[in-house]
Amino acid sequence: MNTERLNINTLNYNETVDRAADILRQGGIVAIPTETVYGLAASAYDTAALKKVFIAKGRPQDNPLIVHISDIEMLDEVAVNIPPEAYECAHLFWPGPFTMILERSQNIAKEVSAGLDTVAVRMPSDKVARDIIRASGPLAAPSANTSGSPSPTSAQHVIDDLDGKIDAVVVSGECEVGVESTVVTLVTNPVRLLRPGAVTAEQLCDIFPNLLIDNAVLANPQADEKVASPGMKYKHYAPKTETYLVEASSEDYIDFVNDINNCVAVCFEEELPKINCPKLSYGSVFDEASLAHRVFEVLRMVDELHAEKVYIHAPSKSGIGLAVYNRLIRAAAFRVVSL
Ligand code: TXA
Ligand code: MG
Repeated sequence: MNTERLNINTLNYNETVDRAADILRQGGIVAIPTETVYGLAASAYDTAALKKVFIAKGRPQDNPLIVHISDIEMLDEVAVNIPPEAYECAHLFWPGPFTMILERSQNIAKEVSAGLDTVAVRMPSDKVARDIIRASGPLAAPSANTSGSPSPTSAQHVIDDLDGKIDAVVVSGECEVGVESTVVTLVTNPVRLLRPGAVTAEQLCDIFPNLLIDNAVLANPQADEKVASPGMKYKHYAPKTETYLVEASSEDYIDFVNDINNCVAVCFEEELPKINCPKLSYGSVFDEASLAHRVFEVLRMVDELHAEKVYIHAPSKSGIGLAVYNRLIRAAAFRVVSL
């Protein structure tokens, strides 16, 4: 299959949005930019198109998709029995990097929810994404990467993974946030955080003082454990190089990596001058948003350095740092070195 490149700019904006929406309405699958990561979109009503998404990504059948809407009026099309708190969250966090799990409407294809009676819904803030959704209707869109590999934060990452397997990619800029949306379930009491993101646990606690942080956020679910968010039990984001997450002060981390042969250090930019082995910075220790913005790109670069092992300096778990930590501990298959 030839994957059409839809380079969007101010001159061709409307016709490119229309072209992407046309392909989607006709049952195609199209990678679209969002403010978090690129998504691989299909109509939430089209069973055959949804199946193509699972196949192109190599995604396990039991891992449900997020439905993306452009306007609050679309929420009633995809979910039912919507509680007042959902509207409160929508008011505060939409459009933006925030996903709610609600009761599923029978309108949407059951493949979206992989057999669950709930549905994940998000309204992205990216203008291109919203304009495409407005023209096409609700879109189910997982991250536009091969299952298991780091999520794509540029159109080039999408092409590296999915060229020839999808109908088109809308080529826009780099994703601003860089990690996937916060996922919260409102169908349980108390409300539960399933995946941390740029809408932080601290922000959510202001609305939900009893917010539960799901075990899977920081721990590895057991093989037989029933997990609230199926995505959390799969191997994720992993470079091919054996990856470790290192919890340590800067001083100890630097001494540790400088003592090891044949490794790559993924560190903070402030540490670069003192590290003697091959190294990649993923942002500033003082700016967790900078770490989120670059983390997936750096995970994609690690293998190019052909080292035996990679040691990533763990971020703090506060604010959006918790989201970065959550992705990195999965990239490291829960191998943590504490110094
Ligand atoms: O930022 C994002 O959310 C991106 C962009 C493209 O919008 N999308 C994304 O989708 O990250 P995906 O498929 O890579 O991750 C969706 C996560 C998975 O962990 C999945 O298990 C969970 O949401 N999820 C989806 N529907 C669910 C449901 N009904 N109940 C529990 N978890 C659900
Ligand atoms: Mg994903």
